[in-house]
Amino acid sequence: MPTSTPTLPSANGMPVLISKQQIAERVAALGAEITRDYEGGSVVLIGVLKGAAIFLSDLARSIKIDATFDFVAVSSYGRARVSSGAVKLIKDIDNPIEGKHVILVEDILDTGLTMSYLRGLMLQHKPASLKIATCLDKPARRLVPIEADYVAFKIPNHFVIGYGMDYAEVYRNVEDIRLFPEEAAAH
Ligand code: IMP
Ligand code: MG
Repeated sequence: MPTSTPTLPSANGMPVLISKQQIAERVAALGAEITRDYEGGSVVLIGVLKGAAIFLSDLARSIKIDATFDFVAVSSYGRARVSSGAVKLIKDIDNPIEGKHVILVEDILDTGLTMSYLRGLMLQHKPASLKIATCLDKPARRLVPIEADYVAFKIPNHFVIGYGMDYAEVYRNVEDIRLFPEEAAAH
């Protein structure tokens, strides 16, 4: 079968930064922490499409209190690898969150521009509380001051793919988190 993206390298040759076993352990621990923090209550998990879909689905199942889902989608103008800073909402939440305990769920907190934009937007809906959960955190790349409340892994400044994260929409279904080769990236 012809591949649609013949120029991109296979993920199998990319070094594993975080294995699927390590991911499973940390996500389970985060779920347990969230379960304790919201004991007796419920949470609304708001995933940022598309990268957070896989993390959200694993995290949700490790949370042992009622958790409902919603999703937002944003587009940042610019090239595939680089956040330009201009963020636009292209899909809003479907259900009201006023008075609810909300956790924004993201694949990776990089410059922080996306999350600080979304946090501001969600706060306008007057949730009872608003926290941020991210699978990965690249603190070295931050351009605006924002921290996640729940972080699965802090990583150095290197572009990664897998576990929901893409390069040019490819590799989201790769099970491990892998280092994307710099030489394959379009500059
Ligand atoms: P921020 O606004 O710079 O924090 O952008 C975060 C978004 O950039 C993430 O949700 C990802 O979609 C994307 N991103 C940042 N770093 C990476 C990476 O290493 N791999 C894949 N996507 C990334
Ligand atoms: Mg994303």
